[in-house]
Amino acid sequence: MKHDSINLHPIETASKDELQSLQLGRLQSTLKSAYENVPHYRQAFENAGVHPDDCLSLSDLSKFPFTTKHDLRSNYPFGMFAVPREEVVRIHASSGTTGKPTVVGYTQKDVDTWAEVCARSIWASGGRPGDVVHVAYGYGLFTGGLGAHYGAEKLGCTVIPVSGGMTERQVQLIQDFEPRVIMITPSYLLVLADEFARQGIDARKTSLQVGIFGAEPWTHKMRCEIEQLFDIDAVDIYGLSEVIGPGVANECAVEKDGLYVWEDHFYPEVIDPESGEVLPDGEQGELVFTSLTKEAFPVIRYRTRDLTRLLPGVNRTMRRMEKITGRSDDMMIIRGVNVFPTQIEEILLEDSRLSPNYQIELTREERLDVMTLLIEPKESGLSGAVLEESSARLSQQVKNRIGVSVQVQMQQPGGVERSMGKARRIVDKREKD
Ligand code: DLL
Repeated sequence: MKHDSINLHPIETASKDELQSLQLGRLQSTLKSAYENVPHYRQAFENAGVHPDDCLSLSDLSKFPFTTKHDLRSNYPFGMFAVPREEVVRIHASSGTTGKPTVVGYTQKDVDTWAEVCARSIWASGGRPGDVVHVAYGYGLFTGGLGAHYGAEKLGCTVIPVSGGMTERQVQLIQDFEPRVIMITPSYLLVLADEFARQGIDARKTSLQVGIFGAEPWTHKMRCEIEQLFDIDAVDIYGLSEVIGPGVANECAVEKDGLYVWEDHFYPEVIDPESGEVLPDGEQGELVFTSLTKEAFPVIRYRTRDLTRLLPGVNRTMRRMEKITGRSDDMMIIRGVNVFPTQIEEILLEDSRLSPNYQIELTREERLDVMTLLIEPKESGLSGAVLEESSARLSQQVKNRIGVSVQVQMQQPGGVERSMGKARRIVDKREKD
């Protein structure tokens, strides 16, 4: 894809100084608003012995306390809002597998900001005004659908708000409405690929040219797989509801190498997850965000649990974050070795006979953790010997490169659980001690 910079937002190519001075001003007013309007932040700042006036430079942010998901839950549902409820025009919530959901709110200005960063993300991905955009992220309390929707409208696209599910109809609509862009989780796109195959339609021959994938970790290898399957450019979009939703960071389709953090709205830090120390750019750690322009739901140093590192920009002023390795919550510790599903994915996808669908099951046998990898061949009809060789190769590679033993269970094609939204990569069947 050719780079064309004429339509970037001016801040994307402003000088570093200009960006930083904008960030500092916005940071100071966000800290002030959080302190003045949200009892939790006032208390947390006081406990830490800091006041918004102590923030005289961007690095002073490190004096302020972190915010965790636990803090948000303790203030359920609306306790973290910095504006009267009447000024909140929209609520979203993250499902949360246990306990109460995390509730977030937006003023009209926040909704506009969100549309703006999503529009910028779609542009960076290669979407252009006038494109037809098929949105297959779920609509509802999840931020994926509506976030993508408003962004695409703002960019001047024709939006098809399909949401997730009804896979057969998704294929039909892609055939009939001829979208150029699709916004969807990578794992659900694989489900669409199966459906195209089932209907005997060549997925490489659709009108789709750009796919904007996020809401879950996916590897460069998965990108190659998807680009092959659909003959599209596959670009990464990142976000989380606590910070705004999709559109916090996005890859540039020209580079496909790390996601530009829209730093004029969301200030990133990477910290050592153990000590909380801020790490220099380039070092891997936990991503932490402070919102710079949000009114209803400012977040100060929110710990995302996502692991990555910050890299300098290439064709924009903003820094990039490397593709997310995984969440600290998804890190499996198998007999003392740390393993992420993405590491398994990288190895799995080296074998072109295997389908990109996989799931990891954790069990405990005689007090030892056992990791079982559920995989399937791309096509039926492979001989037993070929499947055995493929399973053995995979478990050998995982052992050699990650250092853990894994049992491989080859399923029939279509046998591994599919998802219409975020994939469930890990099924933990261990009894909790
Ligand atoms: O998943 C927002 C979103 C929707 C992003 C659509 C992109 C596209 P939550 O449900 O709050 O929000 O989940 C946020 O999902 O902390 C990451 O762990 C993970 N995640 C989101 N995007 C990516 C990505 C949405 N591109 C959590 N790569 C985040 C890896 C991602 N992980």
